Amino acid sequence: MPTPIIIDTDAGVDDAMAIALALAAENLSIAGLISVGGNVPLEQATRNLGRLLAGLPCKAAPPVARGLDQEITGLKNAAHVFGTDGLGAADLEPAAGFQAGDYLDLYEKLITTHGAALTVVAIGPLTNLASVMKLRPGLLEQIGRIVVMGGAIWCPGNVTKHAEFNFYRDPEAVSTVLSSGLPITVVPLDVTRQVALDESHVAHLRRSGTPAGTILAPMVQHCLGRGADCGPQQFIVHDAIAVGLLLWPELFIRARMALDITTKDEQAGRCKPKVAGKSGGHLSVTISINAGAFLENLLEQLCHEKFVV
Ligand code: RIB
Ligand code: CA
Repeated sequence: MPTPIIIDTDAGVDDAMAIALALAAENLSIAGLISVGGNVPLEQATRNLGRLLAGLPCKAAPPVARGLDQEITGLKNAAHVFGTDGLGAADLEPAAGFQAGDYLDLYEKLITTHGAALTVVAIGPLTNLASVMKLRPGLLEQIGRIVVMGGAIWCPGNVTKHAEFNFYRDPEAVSTVLSSGLPITVVPLDVTRQVALDESHVAHLRRSGTPAGTILAPMVQHCLGRGADCGPQQFIVHDAIAVGLLLWPELFIRARMALDITTKDEQAGRCKPKVAGKSGGHLSVTISINAGAFLENLLEQLCHEKFVV
């Protein structure tokens, strides 16, 4: 029985790869896609989910809901990496009649339906999850697991030297969610920055001729060398690693710890291990990845053929 997942996403190119990977995985079933502001403004992120569902093969398009944007104004976005549309100016339009519902309604409906079988994969700012905790107390406690892509623990950030982008965009939400005691696994920049795509991987995606390979190749090509966390002509697929953790957990090493989140001033979004209280380190944090094996698995899943250098 496939694991039902909700993907809470700010719909950039690495989010697109995460969604494509989840759609291609037989042991996952996307029960819902929920937009959050971040890489691009909320409306663009929501529209991008319609664009991706129009371009990626899926037996039955999952429901899409519109979440929240961050209230703090003047924050950096990721247009310089993903383009102003967020998907590398991909030639994709939502299907006619594409509509997005309300995030609270969809979270409530899917959690009521799936309960502890459900996993939430949060690959954007945690604004929606913090709001669900506030407006629907006890609802998130019914799910099985939350996987969060975010944070820079021992490595420099990719927005400021202290903060990774998702944590930078809404540090108060991160502090609320990570201190909730919910069953959370964190996939930080320390791990994701080890998995970089380059021209050879773009060529493999393009040559595969699969729908995912075909739409992702130009998106990744657009992003090569633009991220603050990768070398020239490279692209880090941060969010695909959060989904990959569900598919190939054996490729990761995790540790239990508690994280202290800085929520104000120039270090906002910083996250550092802290001495766990009596509750112990309730977070599961990935601290290492078998990057080569992950890349092979990722490309085989998307391209239906092994990537051989
Ligand atoms: O720092 C990487 C994260 O920020 C990814 O989720 C990327 O999509 C951006 O949202
Ligand atoms: Ca993202």
